[in-house]
Parts: sequence; C-alpha cells; structure tokens
Amino acid sequence: MSKAKRVGVLISGRGSNMASLIEACSSSDYPAEIAHVISNVPDAPGLEIAARKGIPATAIDHKGYASREDFEKDLDATLRDAQIDLICNAGFMRLLTEGFVEAWRDRQLNIHPSLLPAFKGLRTHERAIEAGVRLSGCTVHFVRTEMDSGPIVAQAAVPVLPEDTPDELAARVLEAEHKLYPFALKLVASGEAKVVNERVMFTSCPEVHGPYISPWIE
Ligand code: GAR
Repeated sequence: MSKAKRVGVLISGRGSNMASLIEACSSSDYPAEIAHVISNVPDAPGLEIAARKGIPATAIDHKGYASREDFEKDLDATLRDAQIDLICNAGFMRLLTEGFVEAWRDRQLNIHPSLLPAFKGLRTHERAIEAGVRLSGCTVHFVRTEMDSGPIVAQAAVPVLPEDTPDELAARVLEAEHKLYPFALKLVASGEAKVVNERVMFTSCPEVHGPYISPWIE
C-alpha cells in the first residue's frame, strides 16, 4: 500500500465524526492517518477526545482574530506544519473564504447531515421534518466556497419516521454519518475517488457515478 495520507480534522464541538475517522484510521490497511485535529472553539469536547487518543490537538480560537483571513492564515500554517495532505471538516461550523478553499481545492472534505443539495445550513433535521420528506441522510462532499456544496463523494439515506422529533432524526442520521465518513475518506485517500469536471469519478469503474447510496438501511 502507498503511504497513508496525513489527514487534518477540523471540528467545532462534540467530535463524534472525528472519533469515527480516528477509529477507522487505526486499522493498518486504511489509507489515511489522523495527523492533527484543530478546533476553532477552545473548549470543544472533541479536542479532549483527540488528545486522549494521542493525536496532536490544537485550538485556534477564531474570536482572537480581526478577520476571517487572519484566522485562516494560522489555520493554514498549522495544517502545513503538520504536513497535512487532506482536510476533513467534521462538524466545523465556520465559513471559509475563497482563498482558503481554493488553497485546499480537492483536498478538503465536509460531512453534512442531509441529502445535499437539500437542507444546506443549520436546523437541518427540523427543516427536513417540516418539509415532510420520507428520506433524509448525510453527504460527504469536496468543499467549495458556497456553504455545504461541492462534488459529492458518497451519500447514505435513512428513513424519516412519522413521529420523529429533530433529535430522533439527528441520532439516526448521525449513526449513518459515522459509517459514511470513514467510507468516503477511504475512497478519496486511496485515490479511488477523484474530481473530474466537478463530479466525483471512481477510477476503477469510471462509468459508475456514485453507487454508494444507503447500503446501511436495515
Ligand atoms: C454532524 O451531524 C455534522 O454532519 C454536522 O455537525 C454535526 C457534528 O457532530 N455538520 C454540519 O452541519 C455542517 N454543515 P460531531 O461534532 O459529533 O461530529
């Protein structure tokens, strides 16, 4: 196997998706390793989880900077110092400027708890329930400047049940997220998934576009 890709994970809170990536990377044949975790929120519980697992974890508090660009300068420098190949946004709730997004173009992933392009942004589950959709889910995509948009690597669908509260739906989607993100990162880190003309193509089967929908519905 070629050298494991060095992944930097960006978080803002709980860090459960980060933990699922750390867990996946602990397997010796996984094509990535979590080399650094960075939070823009100093007391994010995820930082503690990463540190307990022996992963370098840094807080870069965006509130300490006069502008987004100044914050991103330090973020970028920390990632480069750690020789990061790929960034995974995992509950990173900070908009990034075009400069940062372009500097890491096709090397930065995000997970969002909906079947994009539906329900970008906040209050995702509440809005999905309000809209009366029968299926929701999660999406891993390459990051572009527009929030929660960019070429889609993989999606998983879960049912929305008639009496679901936003919290119940969030918990069902989160379970799928914890499987989808390691799955999608493996495709990208191994070189299997690549962006071609703003679509993600799979190198070993270029004619197939995204066969990876909801393999986990029981
Ligand atoms: C996850 O549900 C993730 O999809 C979402 O934040 C949560 C973070 O949880 N991200 C977004 O809404 C991005 N637009 P976690 O900190 O336990 O991984």
